[in-house]
Amino acid sequence: MLRTHNCGELREQDTGSSVTLAGWVASIRDHGRFVFINLRDRYGITQVRADEGTDAWQQARQLRMESVIQVHGTVLSRGKDSNPDMATGAIEVQARAIRVFSQTKTPPFVIKDTTDASEALRLKYRYLDLRRPVMRKKIEARVRFTSYIRRYFEDLDFLEIETPILLKSTPEGARDFLVPSRLRPGQFYALPQSPQTYKQILMVAGFDRYFQIARCFRDEDLRADRQPEFTQLDAEMSFVEPRDIMGIIERLFKGMWRDLLGVDLAGDFPVLTYDEAMHRFGKDAPDMRYGMELQDITDTVKPSAFGLFRNTIEAGNRVIAMNVAKGAGFSRKQVDTLVEFARSRGLGGLLWMKVGADGVTGPGTKHIEDPVKQAIIRSMQAEQGDLILAAAAPEMTALRAMGALREEVASRMGLDKAGEWRFVWITEFPMFEYNEEEDRPQAVHHPFTSVMPEDLHMLHSDPYKVRARAYDIVLNGVELGGGSIRNHDPDVQMQVFEVLGMNREQALQKFGFLVDALSFGAPPHGGVALGLDRIVMMALGAGSIRDVIAFPKTTAGLDLMSGSPSNVADRQLRELHLQVTKG
Ligand code: AMO
Repeated sequence: MLRTHNCGELREQDTGSSVTLAGWVASIRDHGRFVFINLRDRYGITQVRADEGTDAWQQARQLRMESVIQVHGTVLSRGKDSNPDMATGAIEVQARAIRVFSQTKTPPFVIKDTTDASEALRLKYRYLDLRRPVMRKKIEARVRFTSYIRRYFEDLDFLEIETPILLKSTPEGARDFLVPSRLRPGQFYALPQSPQTYKQILMVAGFDRYFQIARCFRDEDLRADRQPEFTQLDAEMSFVEPRDIMGIIERLFKGMWRDLLGVDLAGDFPVLTYDEAMHRFGKDAPDMRYGMELQDITDTVKPSAFGLFRNTIEAGNRVIAMNVAKGAGFSRKQVDTLVEFARSRGLGGLLWMKVGADGVTGPGTKHIEDPVKQAIIRSMQAEQGDLILAAAAPEMTALRAMGALREEVASRMGLDKAGEWRFVWITEFPMFEYNEEEDRPQAVHHPFTSVMPEDLHMLHSDPYKVRARAYDIVLNGVELGGGSIRNHDPDVQMQVFEVLGMNREQALQKFGFLVDALSFGAPPHGGVALGLDRIVMMALGAGSIRDVIAFPKTTAGLDLMSGSPSNVADRQLRELHLQVTKG
């Protein structure tokens, strides 16, 4: 070994030992008689001292920050000069000789926890960014989550089985990344959006309990919590019901929070149906850290002659309101930005009412009759000093917009506190939603999800009313994972494909392999996938999913370090029988 100890290891009791350390020069302080070097590696920082008149002193004065060096020396106690903020602060290493392993160019930014380097620069020089202790700790924490998950599932007798990365393109939802086949000109593989069909087929094969830390690829528009390639903890089980899978996942989260974060998540995670979540929070992934629940006050305002209310009711729309406790303190300007926000979410406007000593005030309120005002205050349980916000629109539009507004207001008021963990399960999702572009139903979760038995009779007659046996796990307003019980009956599976607008032939052409497998004795089965990157991001309070991925892509899908995607040689294209028509 080129070192006897690492840079986080030496303590008072090592005083007098002869040691060899190696690492990066994190800082150099030249005090004349002494030159001090902070030497950094993955394990920590050790202070090295070079004394005037020694070779090491000469060498130390020539060093550059971020060079990689080896130091031979003796451990000295720092006595009263100990630095209690450093794990190795009781000692320093008096250097006898310093050897430079690698010189360095001047780094484009200083390697320290707080940096003003742009994210683009950090991503271009990701290896330097990852040297920053704050980043290293995030990646190390991620490793702990991954290995915790692996141990947890292995202990429960789940088998970690790899599924293919090159597979058949069957897009549903997100776009596939395609890989041209050289041996089959004109044909393509797709990268997996998830191991969904393979894990189901593993159940048909009898493996009973499967899991995988699986890389998934989706060519979709990116956001702060999305990457084109990301990692799922993917699992599937046979002979189970939703509560079995939900129980396993709930215990996993409780275990990780207890053992990795030191947080006790007491009690069972609450369970809300999709319908409840939408009506109470305007979102299928509600943030439960605060109340401010939505209320439908359409009936309350029915007696009013106010045009806005009358028109809303006549059009069959709803009035959805929310009470912001102590919100009357918002200035006119702040309220205006809330109105703007509501508009950006598809509302024509926002009715707002400040609750004062003598009733409510606000631009729309003069048209509202006093008894109606009182009725609104009562049904909102509003008090003096509160602010009532209301939207009049088609029900879903109003709920969704108010749901977004609820989060916006909460964040402005600081109600979304870090370090508070509110998990919630959402169940009974609709099976289908309307795809406007293609004018047909599409699966909300995916087409392999089974429907609730009591809704099966509406599959063809009223598909949008059919609920799925699907469940999502949500933390503080972010969907961390989802799953469902699957169709193990090939006939029911074919019927779902039909509702999705595929005829028999198209369905078999796309998913024949799965339907085939299901017809050779498929156990009832179900599973779940958790977004590992998102879990770690949330657990660490990281601002972006990119911070917990060693080599992430930008929101434009670029790898700034290696420069991908990139052009390829004409010869490669010829071999693949491909021609680029634009670029
Ligand atoms: P789903 O599509 O809901 O389910 O994905 C499961 C979880 O994966 C994470 N996730 C992402 N994370 C980062 N970047 C992305 N682009 C991204 N897309 C999804 C989310 C999400 O909750 N096969 C089903 C699961 C099943 O039914 O068992 C599936 O993939 O945290």
